[in-house]
Amino acid sequence: MALARSVSAPTHGVDLGRIEALMSREKARFLKEHPISGELYTETKEHFIHGVPLHWMSQWPGPHPIFVERAKGTSLLDVDDNKYVDFCLGDSGAFFGHANPVIANAIAEYVQGHGSTMMLPSEDAVYLGKELAGRFGLPTWQFATSATDANRFAIRIARMVTGRNKILVFNGKYHGSVDETQVELDSGNMVPQHGIHPNATNFPETTVCIEFNDLGALESALKAGDVACILAEPVMTNIGMVPVDEGFHDEMRKLSKKYGTLLVIDETHTICFGPSGYTGLHGLEPDFLVVGKVLAGGIPSAVYGMTSEIATQLEEMTAGPGINHYGFGGTLTGNALTARAIRATLENVATQETYDRIFLLAERLRSEISKVIEHNNLPWHVLRFGARVEYLYRPEPPKNGSEAAAARDDFIEEFIHLYALNRGVLLTPFHNMALVSPATSTKDIDYYLEVFSECIEELTGQ
Ligand SMILES: Cc1ncc(COP(=O)(O)O)c(C=O)c1O
Repeated sequence: MALARSVSAPTHGVDLGRIEALMSREKARFLKEHPISGELYTETKEHFIHGVPLHWMSQWPGPHPIFVERAKGTSLLDVDDNKYVDFCLGDSGAFFGHANPVIANAIAEYVQGHGSTMMLPSEDAVYLGKELAGRFGLPTWQFATSATDANRFAIRIARMVTGRNKILVFNGKYHGSVDETQVELDSGNMVPQHGIHPNATNFPETTVCIEFNDLGALESALKAGDVACILAEPVMTNIGMVPVDEGFHDEMRKLSKKYGTLLVIDETHTICFGPSGYTGLHGLEPDFLVVGKVLAGGIPSAVYGMTSEIATQLEEMTAGPGINHYGFGGTLTGNALTARAIRATLENVATQETYDRIFLLAERLRSEISKVIEHNNLPWHVLRFGARVEYLYRPEPPKNGSEAAAARDDFIEEFIHLYALNRGVLLTPFHNMALVSPATSTKDIDYYLEVFSECIEELTGQ
């Protein structure tokens, strides 16, 4: 996990040589305080890729992963008895708090009293259909087991109903491991994404990649009339946070209609803006909407909605006799247990009241981080998207994925994350993002700020 780095002039306002020295100290502290995790890792290394059930789990800072004992609310305990305040929250899967009592009770009661999966609808489908339609403004829904799958299915359906092959994505995006999205721009040219096998995908035939906020490029791309759908987050959250230009969404919608391209809005992270995501808050009118991760208290789940025009076409196309798979959904999709967990979340937890409380704390976090940055004269900025707060190593918010990518620095990030972890603050790997949940307390925020402030002062030598 250690990142090799040449040490030269200050980068993003930071003397990397200084980090090098501090990093050795932090790694030694990590090893001393996580002996049991270290032993477990020695054993799991033999049977798992990178020693973990999901290879991302090896990308936390430190010489090996920490092994978890339990988590509740924002509090996480590892097997070495180290306690953390969790601002990663399973990278959104536990956004409403670990073991949220309302969702956890609903899950336990349902599985014990009713079972889990019967490949049949339960009565909760009645509530969920109405609730999803009312909440997100699209009338017809399907479930998936992950946001990745929901995006894959939305793309497939967009291709079925438009008869077109290509999708359009924005540089720096992440929509899960959907093959056709694994591209990036290199000096303006679309290339396979660094480090990802193309999996036999012929990208020029499947994908167009442009910069976010670039309406000119969007129109040029759509004009050819071969793009089935645009797949976009309403603001970007996976390459640092990239805000959307005023008017971009209106124009994107107009252009997509003009050229017969469907619009898929992926709200998997941006559900942090409120109970109906960025779409509800800003009145977007997509053809598909995808939400995953957060809906079922950590049980794998996702939903995607579509317009009645698409739903009608799809029902006609899939009305044939015999056994048909059609390529969207799977055996466990829409199982009754997940449906109950989603119901518990939407009915009782993902309410405006919950979000309003979160926003107060998240705004405090943002404004105090901003003060620390300013106080230490760092050329950085911090943004808040609803419940997500993230800083990036450039003075102004980026306009697109390329600008955001240029401002990232794995070495600085690894140091800050390791420093925080050693002092009991968990941050999301691959991001400088802190997620504020309904379980987050003022004390949690104050503790984060204390640790962040100390870290930056050590970093800058102030
Ligand atoms: C915007 C967005 N869409 C989809 C996904 C994929 O989610 P999952 O890994 O749960 O399938 C992610 C994951 O981070 C995401 O950020």
